Amino acid sequence: MAPRDEAHRLLAAGREADVYLRPDGLLVKRNRAGRAAGPEAELMRYLRRQGVPVPRVADVSETDLVMEYVPGPRMSQEVDARPWRAGALGRELAELHRRLDAVPAPGFLDGEGGLLHLDLHPGNVVLGPEGPVVVDWAGARRGDRRVDVAMSWLAMAVAPLRPFKRLARSRLLRGFLSGVDGDVRQAMPAAAAIRLARHQRDEAEVSAVRRLVADCTG
Ligand SMILES: Nc1ncnc2c1ncn2[C@@H]1O[C@H](COP(=O)(O)OP(=O)(O)O)[C@@H](O)[C@H]1O
Ligand SMILES: [Mg+2]
Repeated sequence: MAPRDEAHRLLAAGREADVYLRPDGLLVKRNRAGRAAGPEAELMRYLRRQGVPVPRVADVSETDLVMEYVPGPRMSQEVDARPWRAGALGRELAELHRRLDAVPAPGFLDGEGGLLHLDLHPGNVVLGPEGPVVVDWAGARRGDRRVDVAMSWLAMAVAPLRPFKRLARSRLLRGFLSGVDGDVRQAMPAAAAIRLARHQRDEAEVSAVRRLVADCTG
C-alpha cells in the first residue's frame, strides 16, 4: 500500500504515527520511525476480548496496523467544542481507568504488575457512537496502575493553554480526580519522571510538572 496514494486520506499525523483512512473505510496506522505494528495489534486484540473499548483490529503487517475506524471527535476536541461538558468528560476518563484496573495484564507485555497505557489523555480517546474508545496502545507496559492514572492527570494539567481554556481544563481535572483513588498522588513523582524522560520538554512544561509533583508530595 502506498500511503501517499490519493485514495488514502491522511486523518492524523500524531507525534509518532501517520493515520490514514482507506477507501474501504478501514484505518491504517503506521509509525514514522518504522516501529513494528505487531505488538500494539496483539495488545488491542487482547483488550477487546477483555471487554475494554478499543478499535477492532482487521489486519497487521510489519509496519501497518489496520483497524476499524471509530467515527467521532477526540475527547480533547469535545472539551474545546463543548467546554460545559468538561467535568463529565473528566469523569468518563476516570471511568476508563477503572475499567483498566480490572483487566489482568497480559504476560506478553514488558514489566510486572498491572496494565498501563501510559498515554491515556483526552487526545487518545475517540468518542464513538457506542461510547469512548481508547486508541494509541503502542507505549503500553506493566507496572503500578496508579502511575497510569498519574500520567493522565499530568498530561491534562501541564499542557499549555490559552487563558480562556483554563476554566474547561480545571473542570476536566476536577471531574477526573473525583473518579480516581486519592493515593494517585503518591505515584506522581514516578509519572513525572516518565513524562520528562520521554520527549524534549520546554522550560514552562518542566516547571509545571515540578510544581504538580511538589503539590502532590508536599
Ligand atoms: N481506530 C481509530 N478510529 C478513529 N480515529 C483514530 C483511530 N486510531 C487513531 N485515530 C486518530 O488518530 C490519532 C493518532 O493516532 P494514535 O494512535 O494516537 O497515534 P500517535 O502515536 O501518533 O498519537 C488519534 O489521536 C485519533 O484521533
Ligand atoms: Mg495519540
